Amino acid sequence: MTVDGKVTTRNFTPVDFTSREDKLHLFRQRALADAVLIGHTSLKRDNVRLGLPLELQKARTKRGQAPAPIRVIVSDEGKIASRLKIFQSDISPIVIFSTKRMPRKYHRALAKKAALYLTDSDHVDLAGMLETLRNEYNVRIVACEGGPTLFRSLLEQNLVDQLNLTIAPYMFGGANAPTLTGLSKDFLPASVHCRLIDMRVIEEECFLTYRIKHKR
Ligand SMILES: NC(=O)c1ccc[n+]([C@@H]2O[C@H](COP(=O)([O-])OP(=O)(O)OC[C@H]3O[C@@H](n4cnc5c(N)ncnc54)[C@H](OP(=O)(O)O)[C@@H]3O)[C@@H](O)[C@H]2O)c1
Repeated sequence: MTVDGKVTTRNFTPVDFTSREDKLHLFRQRALADAVLIGHTSLKRDNVRLGLPLELQKARTKRGQAPAPIRVIVSDEGKIASRLKIFQSDISPIVIFSTKRMPRKYHRALAKKAALYLTDSDHVDLAGMLETLRNEYNVRIVACEGGPTLFRSLLEQNLVDQLNLTIAPYMFGGANAPTLTGLSKDFLPASVHCRLIDMRVIEEECFLTYRIKHKR
């Protein structure tokens, strides 16, 4: 995020405001996970593949892991375009958690490219999703790469253990540019208490690691 707490601009256009070091940091964190998780808007806007550089794939294979974490997409509406870049990469399986609201034509196209878990209710049950990932895919560590709406939902449900945060030397301003927890004017149900466990400064960026204190 920027110095003033923004994770993107008000247009939600892909903005590249962090260093090469931060991108490597992201890959390294991703490489530690069994699954990487993303919200539909971030997937659509940033058109990411969620893969890994070859070197990190090799290191995982050496450790007895699959070359890359499985890729998990969350969407209530389910209108995920099958032409997105993620579906052109077969680096790891793709799993989609959505609802039966997913229109038939999307269902047909996506079923060829991903495993679909569609709930009868209007919203994806995030805790249920994590249980499915654990039970059916043996997932222990999930790296959520945002965006803010998904991150906020996970926080609200007490489902986040750790936050890796890079502060980049910019300010964007603007009430309509989302912060880490999105644009909602509502308070979180309760303040979330974080414990700083690591802080590194590399050139002009600050790399922070927080443990989230769980509510009982
Ligand atoms: N700077 C950074 O590190 C960083 C990281 C990530 C993203 N971003 C930026 O964040 C922006 C997107 O923000 P956003 O908050 O709109 O993104 P988001 O959380 O990626 O996407 C929101 C969408 O994801 C689905 N979703 C999220 N939470 C859900 C839940 N609990 N249950 C079911 N579906 C859920 C819904 O999809 P449907 O609408 O399909 O139902 C929702 O509309 C992008 O511009 C991106 O570049 C920045």
